[in-house]
Amino acid sequence: MSEEQNELQEAKELVEQADYAVRISGLRNAFGDQVIHDDLSLDVHKGEILGVVGGSGTGKSVMMRSIIGLQKPQAGTIEVFGTHVLDEEESDGSVRSRWGILFQGGALFSTLTVAENVQVPLKEFYPDMDAKLLDEIALYKIALSGLPPEAAAKYPSELSGGMRKRAGLARALALDPDLLFLDEPTAGLDPIGAAAFDELTKKLQQTLGLTVFLITHDLDTLYEICDRVAVLADRQVIAVGTIDELLATDHPWIQQYFNGPRGRAAIASQKRKEARENA
Ligand SMILES: Nc1ncnc2c1ncn2[C@@H]1O[C@H](COP(=O)(O)OP(=O)(O)OP(=O)(O)O)[C@@H](O)[C@H]1O
Ligand SMILES: [Mg+2]
Repeated sequence: MSEEQNELQEAKELVEQADYAVRISGLRNAFGDQVIHDDLSLDVHKGEILGVVGGSGTGKSVMMRSIIGLQKPQAGTIEVFGTHVLDEEESDGSVRSRWGILFQGGALFSTLTVAENVQVPLKEFYPDMDAKLLDEIALYKIALSGLPPEAAAKYPSELSGGMRKRAGLARALALDPDLLFLDEPTAGLDPIGAAAFDELTKKLQQTLGLTVFLITHDLDTLYEICDRVAVLADRQVIAVGTIDELLATDHPWIQQYFNGPRGRAAIASQKRKEARENA
């Protein structure tokens, strides 16, 4: 390749990189003999809400944990905003302040109030921040998550399941992330609470310009707010696209999932909603 061609290639790669929040390639995870991921690849575009689906135990949470550094893969590369996070020399930790995580089950510290929970990542990254500012930021994030101000002083055990999810979201938003990981955010919520949480996610994505990596079993969530959906099966991401694009594939799991009784109910509900909006 000539020097010019080289430069052109590099420029092309830079532009391409700029379009992605996350790029996973050749990922392998195994626990003993149990292979969870084998040569898995997935790109997450900047600014999108990507839904991640797959049967229970297919490795959705393990994939998320690999991206955020809680699970060390046996092979593969993972880039977050252009930084190779598995490469300890390249990844100095600053990229970690660019994401927020709502863990499956919430994972709030039970001995800390909601406000103190929200302050945990702030204190980690800004150890010198004064107490007043910490309080103000925590209150702001709590409000952003749709919780009343009284919730700030409560302990997780004093909150309902839905409120706990919002408290977890407030903590995930503490560092003004560009990338938000949500692992089953609506699991265990009643349908109205789940729809409200979806709406909040969409609003945050739009107003804060977030990229959202959203693991879910909730078909309504997929239809309502996801731009694309990635399907995990057979140790890989077997398909990624809009729901219409996925429906056009003939993979049995995808067909069963979206065209089963629950999938059809979600489509019907979506159509009713569109009809109401157009009326
Ligand atoms: N730390 C670990 N040690 C051993 N096995 C693990 C570990 N973490 C996960 N696994 C196994 O890896 C597989 C994938 O787990 P994972 O939690 O990613 O599933 P999932 O797709 O998130 O499922 P669900 O929808 O039920 O949350 C499971 O079989 C699980 O038992
Ligand atoms: Mg999981």
